[in-house]
Amino acid sequence: MTDDTDLVSKSVAGITVSAIKEMAMRAARVPGAASLTWGLPSFRTPEHIRHAVAAALDDDPDIGKYTLPDGLPQLRAAAAEAHRAATGVTVDPDRNVTITAGNMEGVKTLLCAILDPGDEVIVTDPGFASHFIQIGLLGAKAVFWRLDEARGWALDLEALPALVTARSKAILLVSPSNPTGRIFTRYELMAVGRLAAERGLLVILDDPYGHFTYENRERYFNLSSVPELADHVAYLFTFSKCHAMSGWRLGYGVLPEWLKREILKVHDATMICAPRISQVAGLAALSGEQEHLGEFERILARRRELICARLDALPHVFDYVKPEGAYYVFPRIRAEHRDSYEFAIRLLEQAKVVVTPGSAFGPAGEHHVRMAFCMDEQVIEAAFDRLEAHFGQ
Ligand SMILES: Cc1ncc(COP(=O)(O)O)c(C=O)c1O
Repeated sequence: MTDDTDLVSKSVAGITVSAIKEMAMRAARVPGAASLTWGLPSFRTPEHIRHAVAAALDDDPDIGKYTLPDGLPQLRAAAAEAHRAATGVTVDPDRNVTITAGNMEGVKTLLCAILDPGDEVIVTDPGFASHFIQIGLLGAKAVFWRLDEARGWALDLEALPALVTARSKAILLVSPSNPTGRIFTRYELMAVGRLAAERGLLVILDDPYGHFTYENRERYFNLSSVPELADHVAYLFTFSKCHAMSGWRLGYGVLPEWLKREILKVHDATMICAPRISQVAGLAALSGEQEHLGEFERILARRRELICARLDALPHVFDYVKPEGAYYVFPRIRAEHRDSYEFAIRLLEQAKVVVTPGSAFGPAGEHHVRMAFCMDEQVIEAAFDRLEAHFGQ
């Protein structure tokens, strides 16, 4: 009789579900836990998006059908226009734009299109845990590029050239960053782009948080706005966070033409197309009124001030860098602890507060925790009231 586990592939057996989801699942078993673990905004999908979908359900006889693998032409055109408005660069909806089922699928599909086993992808450390897992699932290696905590988690440009090897295929970046909230500068990103072009690498920009930059909008720079680098940059936008559409599973990619062709093979073999109903929602999100973007950002800005003020009151427990964008803060643990995992489990069990252990985000994340501040203010207040009661003020 075969043990079930004998059937599991080595690459899957070798990984665990991401710590973010593990903590979310643990928290769900603790009634009343105050969870800062999952970057799931509290916002409801805006009304005009919901109404557009409701109307399409009633009126569009094709609403229940597949679309072409690269998505509805109207949505690709709207994505190209959104990209032009954001970057000043004109892209061709047919040759350069493809619709994905969100950035998780977009990144995985893209990695699948470029990686062979043994290839390498340079990722920031700390960086987004799911990227490491996606790379590992393809038999490739995530090469950690340590961020400079002393300089507010900046990119360490001097360290980059030595990380490039004959097996390097791509450099994968998130700015504003998850988990640190750092916005990488134009200077830093241009240096990365130039190196990628010189060494024949692809820069993959996974961008869920470009609309959440607070007072730092001027600092935000999109490397896909540089025409000379266009062959070396893949830009992935998701509707999940800024349009409060995480459950709709929708994103788009702006890609070099050769890459779009390759990605489509993988996307088609995986899911055929992003759900049409979500594409209709995405079209409403891009072409309807945009007030919710500013509204969400204003609310998140208030929550950022709140969480920073509450962290300031616990200097014996946490030391942190104020996030410039996104909605995460990544404090260093100053209280006594063994490692970030032990600390996070202890907080859950003893204080009913849920945070994500920093070690999930790479070796440099050890002795840190990630706290999201996209949830209602009462949750943030409750979590910190409990932390103060637990550690003393
Ligand atoms: C860096 C990063 N990429 C991708 C995702 C997931 O995006 P999507 O919902 O579009 O799959 C997240 C969500 O937290 C994220 O932080």
